[in-house]
Amino acid sequence: MSEPRADALDARAFGKVILLGEHAVVYGHAAIAAGIEPGVTARCLDRSGSHAELSIEPWQLTVRTDDADAHQGTHGLLHQAFSALTANLGAPAVGVRVAATAHLPPGGGLGSSAALGVAVARAIVPEAPLSRIDEAVAAFEAVFHGNASGLDAAVAARGGLQYFRRTTTGIVTDAIAPRRPVHLCIGHSGPGASTRTMVEGVARQHERNPSATERTLVGIGELVKTARIAIEDGDLEGLGKLLDLNQILLASLMVSTPDLERMCQLARSAGALGAKLTGAGGGGAVVALVPGEPERVLVAWREAGFRGLATTIPAAAGRPAAAQEIS
Ligand code: MEV
Repeated sequence: MSEPRADALDARAFGKVILLGEHAVVYGHAAIAAGIEPGVTARCLDRSGSHAELSIEPWQLTVRTDDADAHQGTHGLLHQAFSALTANLGAPAVGVRVAATAHLPPGGGLGSSAALGVAVARAIVPEAPLSRIDEAVAAFEAVFHGNASGLDAAVAARGGLQYFRRTTTGIVTDAIAPRRPVHLCIGHSGPGASTRTMVEGVARQHERNPSATERTLVGIGELVKTARIAIEDGDLEGLGKLLDLNQILLASLMVSTPDLERMCQLARSAGALGAKLTGAGGGGAVVALVPGEPERVLVAWREAGFRGLATTIPAAAGRPAAAQEIS
């Protein structure tokens, strides 16, 4: 990841790492995720155009709402998402030209699309309250995630360590105060599958085998509740075991891959207290909880050809964790 080039004029959003609860969170169970920096920054350059335009460094992508051509892949999705976001924001988004700088890899499980949506929405409507940003980014994220829980967007907008739930009436976030610093290594197994594809895969399992899938999702939800207590009590050994159990349940939802499993195993052998995939799975990122010094895990990954970085969630509420590139 590159160094942030943000200044006071830039709107900002965090990347995210899910500690526990992905996929189950789509079905109304709780999840725990932390904001990580650097995320995405965005700036509104002009408001006098005939259409809205968004360009993103370093992905070298530009989309315009008046572009009638059907685009494939990331460009097509981004065009749809930006059109949905500007339509949701209404009058303030008419004719805007926004430049965003992403410091996160796309599709890597670190919440790049939600961070982009939040930073761009904030650049367009700087005075918008969090609830308005949540609503607009839900329209943006629906294009990438299908049935998105809103977790990524909530953490992108708030940072800190969040206990999150989607309820029938909206989202509920609660900042968690860790008793001890939570040291994490985040590794990249390679390109991730699309979040929409992975969420739809779990939905298909839920349709075909509702009782077994439901038991797994409930089980993940229970791990998340216990993990909150472990974090608040400073029981990092217990938290590590919960991460490992969460990984077993995620694998049973068929969202893990041989590379993700290997990275988890490498991390545990190198002293991690626990490890699991983070995000939608099908590739993408792994998170490992380490007792302190991250170097052994990062070296083990590097020697096996995987890149990684270290981040620490401080022992205090509501502060973002700073990511530090190691390899
Ligand atoms: C993706 O980062 C997390 C998922 O739970 C999807 C979502 O919450 O929208 C897989």
